[in-house]
Amino acid sequence: MAFSPAEIYLSKVFEIGISRSTLKHLLNIAGRHQNIALIGWSDYAKHLINVYPDRIKCIVDEKTEVTGLSFRDVPVVPFSSKEARSADCYLATRFDMLTSAVLRLYQDRQFPTKRYLFAPEYDGRTSEFYDPMMQDAIFETIRSAGSPPPTMMEDSRIVLLVEVLRTALRVEGDVVEIGSWQGGSSWYICQALKALNEDRRAYFFDLFDESERMSGRAVMASDHIRRQLSFYPNTSVVVGDVRETITALEDRRIAFFHYDNMFQHKVFPYVWSRMPSGGMILLDNYGHFRSHPAMIDDFAEKNGTRVTFIPPLGQGILIKP
Ligand SMILES: C[S@@+](CC[C@H](N)C(=O)[O-])C[C@H]1O[C@@H](n2cnc3c(N)ncnc32)[C@H](O)[C@@H]1O
Repeated sequence: MAFSPAEIYLSKVFEIGISRSTLKHLLNIAGRHQNIALIGWSDYAKHLINVYPDRIKCIVDEKTEVTGLSFRDVPVVPFSSKEARSADCYLATRFDMLTSAVLRLYQDRQFPTKRYLFAPEYDGRTSEFYDPMMQDAIFETIRSAGSPPPTMMEDSRIVLLVEVLRTALRVEGDVVEIGSWQGGSSWYICQALKALNEDRRAYFFDLFDESERMSGRAVMASDHIRRQLSFYPNTSVVVGDVRETITALEDRRIAFFHYDNMFQHKVFPYVWSRMPSGGMILLDNYGHFRSHPAMIDDFAEKNGTRVTFIPPLGQGILIKP
């Protein structure tokens, strides 16, 4: 039985920086099309060109460090270039560009008139579902800022935190977090504000130095956390029992409130009364019985709204009517 050039190539390729199964999918797709523009300058793009130099016309990628490069005479070009527009189909070689590429092709009127092709998985990650942590540009910017401090929130809850924050920023006002612990969620809030070119004030309330550490990874030193957040200058780290320190918000308007604490009779109405219509609250612990969700429900009911619960994350969203 004769082997195809793609099969021979696959059997020899080093599995360094790529997965053989993803490359196999991409080669199968490329083998069925002509006049292809590859989306994303990646190692997969390089291997595809090695096997199919005549089928691939260009690599579409707008990162400044790669535009202008070429591999075996196949140029890296922007979406709006003549080469990109004259392709018959687009094949995505990078998982992180899957959704942003569709947007660019849509803006250039190339989608859905031309075929948009992608593998069922990239390096073991399914391409069936949108993954904001990998595919939303804001998280790419945040990732490039370095490692976050420890957080009790897993990635999916951090994604919702950044999502709700971005929506809430449509109204005027400050950003407030109660329950910052080691500053992990605070760091994501500040990174998102910085990435969005915001300069509104961000407040972070916790017992900090006065609290137990809750985990061996935490030190809960407020000066340390202040330094970690110093890349976003308009930050206030407020130390102490929030039932006393909440008065720091006396003359403020609040657009977004991240509440990672149990229901506090004094604190909740205090913040609520300073929110404009459209302001948003993200309740991290709404699904925890110890956070007294029934009291939050009662509060919401009396204020003409209700909490939108997001299982299985356990978070809840309240929008000021
Ligand atoms: C679940 S942790 C916050 C986790 C944090 N958002 C993260 O990303 O890891 C709850 C925090 O609430 C703080 N806390 C509890 N009671 C408080 C109070 N009365 N005043 C201020 N902070 C309080 C604790 O010190 C703790 O750090």
